[in-house]
Amino acid sequence: MGKIYMTACMKGGCAKTVTTYNLAYSLQKLGKKVLAVDFDSQANLTTCFGVEDPAAVPVTIGHLMMAQIEDEELPAAEEYIMSRNGVDFIPSSMVLSVVDAKLRLEMGAEKMLSGILESLRDRYDAIIIDTAPTLGALNINALAAADEVIITVNPQLLAMMGLQDFLKTVKKIKSRINDKLDVAGILLTMCDARTNLCKVITEQVTDTFEGQIRIFDSKIPNTVKVGESVYYSEPLLEYAPECKACEAYENFAKELIAYEG
Ligand SMILES: Nc1ncnc2c1ncn2[C@@H]1O[C@H](COP(=O)(O)OP(=O)(O)OP(=O)(O)O)[C@@H](O)[C@H]1O
Ligand SMILES: [Mg+2]
Repeated sequence: MGKIYMTACMKGGCAKTVTTYNLAYSLQKLGKKVLAVDFDSQANLTTCFGVEDPAAVPVTIGHLMMAQIEDEELPAAEEYIMSRNGVDFIPSSMVLSVVDAKLRLEMGAEKMLSGILESLRDRYDAIIIDTAPTLGALNINALAAADEVIITVNPQLLAMMGLQDFLKTVKKIKSRINDKLDVAGILLTMCDARTNLCKVITEQVTDTFEGQIRIFDSKIPNTVKVGESVYYSEPLLEYAPECKACEAYENFAKELIAYEG
């Protein structure tokens, strides 16, 4: 039975997508069978996987969500699961923004994504959901589907703001909708070693959450290689396996697994 992770942050640009993408390949390198789910209508993760025109993909997560909301039968997994270099993924497109609007009008529609992913859980060791930086109906669905939330914090962006509200929501979802939900921890991303800020924010995060939430030892350094690898639609393990960010994501993957025993 695979574990369902979700990368989350209530601010944009905290490296959720880059983390989902590189964590997927780092876990694969550790022998895990991984499915990455693009649950953001921006479809950035889908582009990372090399899909040039997400709008042209016939079955995306948006289509699956629509079918689920309408109580229609889902297509066979082979029709919507794509694969790149051994990592499977479910693409997204703008269709998901229509779903977002529709979900707001539906009652009791928090478990739509869960319904889709539970049917796939047995096929994978890890399923990772990449989310958008909002706390709307889509992310409630992601929280209702996930076992573990990985919170990405970008020290440059005062990303701690909004974190307490998000944690409150996690608590509510856990008690009302999904009792298996837990916070895996906080991952500091885009840490610029040349500035003192990363150190200061790390201390601030530690002081605030010590004993409450795990802060991963692995911190992802800022490097131009990340942007380049995204541009070329290659994970760091392919594009720049020697770079520090790649090593950090590999260590993070190990930490994540070790933590679960
Ligand atoms: N470690 C890093 N070093 C340098 N640049 C990075 C790093 N991590 C992410 N980036 C860059 O920061 C930008 C935002 O990253 P990403 O798209 O993963 O964030 P996000 O949290 O998914 O954003 P959104 O909220 O819009 O979905 C991208 O341009 C990405 O290439
Ligand atoms: Mg993103």
